[in-house]
Amino acid sequence: MKTTKDFQKMKDKNEAIAMMTAYDYPSAKLTEKSGMDMILVGDSLGMTVLGYDSTVPVTIDDMVLHTKAVRRGAKDTFTVTDLPFMTYHISEETTLRNASRLLQEAGAQAVKLEGAGSVLSMISRLTSAGVPVMAHLGLTPQSVGVLGGYKVQGKKAEEAEQLLQDAKAAEKAGAFALVLECVPKQLTGLIVETLSIPVIGIGAGAKADGQVLVYHDVIGYGSEHLPKFVKQYANVQDTIEEALHQYVSEVKDSRFPEDQHTFTMDEDTLTHLYG
Ligand code: KIV
Ligand code: NA
Repeated sequence: MKTTKDFQKMKDKNEAIAMMTAYDYPSAKLTEKSGMDMILVGDSLGMTVLGYDSTVPVTIDDMVLHTKAVRRGAKDTFTVTDLPFMTYHISEETTLRNASRLLQEAGAQAVKLEGAGSVLSMISRLTSAGVPVMAHLGLTPQSVGVLGGYKVQGKKAEEAEQLLQDAKAAEKAGAFALVLECVPKQLTGLIVETLSIPVIGIGAGAKADGQVLVYHDVIGYGSEHLPKFVKQYANVQDTIEEALHQYVSEVKDSRFPEDQHTFTMDEDTLTHLYG
């Protein structure tokens, strides 16, 4: 399994880091098989698999459950799990407890948390307790209520300057990597040059040290609205729809099951049963 040190080396050697979310056993198995460098058990699972309309309702129990399933499917892949909304703000004690559940109970290798400001002290507290932390800046979906929607961040000079300062502060606080979401490519370039740690982009352009996308978006599985920054590489949704439709019609027309799907008993037993 790769380590935080390997990701640092990849940045230093200009080798791109490929990361994707996974939420359960089968998605983790396929993700690991693909040669993915890192898995994110993202709180985007609130939308992709639980059907909420934001990440805000996701709980630490949800993240523990899904991380366990992912780790069973991807035993050799470095796995980062999101600390969900409000699980790293209340106190250092609850933050440490929640991170410990993700690492010790669920088997994650690192945690990710959103924002800077008062969150910076949590990054440094976690890091000094031995928890690798990935920071997340730019569009931070847990703050959708404050941001007023899912929009590109850092387009204006003042915002961009603040983002750069936050990124530097996250590195200084001990983050081993940074996710940068939905920012102009020029700002990504500046942050990548300024920071020593790897910057993983999503909607942040080609200058990032790595890329992360949401599994369901990439394979075309149930995502209704795809943001501009997504590239959909397959459309498994159509395949699934077709299969389910065919099953329903074959059951209703008595074309399924056929002999090959059916068990039999021998004649003697049958005679005995009929008396
Ligand atoms: O939850 C998630 O999927 C994420 C990525 C989009 C970075 O945080
Ligand atoms: Na997330």
